[in-house]
Amino acid sequence: EICDLIRARAPLANWPAHYFRVEDNIERADMLLGSAYAPGEALRAAIACGPTGMMAEMRKSNLRGRGGAGFTTAVKWEACRDAKGDERYIVCNADEGEPGTFKDRVLMQSFSERVFEGMAIAGYVTGARKGFVYLRGEYSYLRAPLEAKLSEMRRNRLLGMSICGVPGFDFDIVIHMGAGAYVCGEETALIESLEGKPGLPRIRPPFPVICGYNNQPTVVNNVETLCKVTEVAIHGGLAYAGTGTRQSAGTKIISVSGDVERPGLYEYPFGVRVSQVLDDAGAYDAVAVQISGAAGQCLTPQEFGRRIAFEDVPTSGSFMVFGNTRDLFEAALNYSHFFEHESCGFCTPCRVGTALVARIMEKIHSGHGARYEFNELTRLHQLISTSSHCGLGATATNALQDIMTKFPTVFDRRLIKRDFEPGFDLDAALA
Ligand code: NAI
Repeated sequence: EICDLIRARAPLANWPAHYFRVEDNIERADMLLGSAYAPGEALRAAIACGPTGMMAEMRKSNLRGRGGAGFTTAVKWEACRDAKGDERYIVCNADEGEPGTFKDRVLMQSFSERVFEGMAIAGYVTGARKGFVYLRGEYSYLRAPLEAKLSEMRRNRLLGMSICGVPGFDFDIVIHMGAGAYVCGEETALIESLEGKPGLPRIRPPFPVICGYNNQPTVVNNVETLCKVTEVAIHGGLAYAGTGTRQSAGTKIISVSGDVERPGLYEYPFGVRVSQVLDDAGAYDAVAVQISGAAGQCLTPQEFGRRIAFEDVPTSGSFMVFGNTRDLFEAALNYSHFFEHESCGFCTPCRVGTALVARIMEKIHSGHGARYEFNELTRLHQLISTSSHCGLGATATNALQDIMTKFPTVFDRRLIKRDFEPGFDLDAALA
């Protein structure tokens, strides 16, 4: 129970959910990310602090990565700044591939100047002069408006040479298109792809902050994290840390989809209960919520009182809601096909393991699976999650395993019963 960790300065009750529906007019997106602000305001605020002062604000803010893992952004930036290298780079990971997650798409669409300013601030603080946006292939329609925004910012001296008239503050951004591989959301596979190579994950450590793009120190941050940097610059680190919980400062944007009346993006201070998000989105018959996409965890109604925070339920930002007419087995089958398809094939546990899981799921689906197959899924989960080369394999069977343990009946009713098992139907066997 982390209820007491909610900061007194920003009690949740005073912080109504800011949300807009994806299909709504873009203007309503202004409700996200707090107050509106003028172009360049965040950059000028960072410049007023100076690189060291802005880094101190980042430390005070306790901002943690919004891609899902929650690594402290200031620690990442400091490591990059202090690493040995000829050049430094800032990479915005816009390869949002987790099923059910669409927050970064909306941020790139409606708040691209915040993302770019966040990148420029990261460049200012770490000494990087070049940034890349690695944009998901499926978001290619965003490229032209993003290029237009970059040109506008260059014209307004918010990018390019001597930004805001500060001599020596040079930073520019290139957009690089992904080609539809889920694994390229993994930061080292992303860097390989940026370098023009196949997107195969590298061994970490060394982390990208030490050895990243072209083997130079590189910061890789999620789109939402970079947006939050502008809030830290404008409001200061302490003010930023005043919202949320002790270990999870600030707010989180959540993409809600599935069996809800009002799907869309919702923003809350960390610490919000799952049940509040479900109420706001109009999820009246939810029997399960898949948090953080196919690699995340599946919550039961008994867990809806839990809180979104790194202390309790961390999330990259997606809620897929399943109503009482859904068959969770079908969802699990879907996940197994997704990971079989998206495994990059580099390491055997993931390449072979995800294929085996998909075959076993198909066997159970067709009514030919027994307790043996069920147990095999558990064994494969242990093997794949502990011996895969990267995060894709490490998390590929998470949701499946969660459904197996928390919703055993969805499997049980599909398994063939042997004569020594409870539920064995002798008449059916003899017929
Ligand atoms: P991780 O915990 O290994 O690393 C997180 C970040 O911290 C990385 O940028 C890493 O370079 C950095 N880091 C970690 N230790 C460090 C150290 N000692 N020094 C310097 N930097 C360090 O997590 P990972 O594997 O990068 O990401 C997994 C997360 O991504 C999961 O939470 C998963 O849910 C999420 N994810 C999000 C997706 C999306 O669409 N947003 C898609 C798929 C996964």
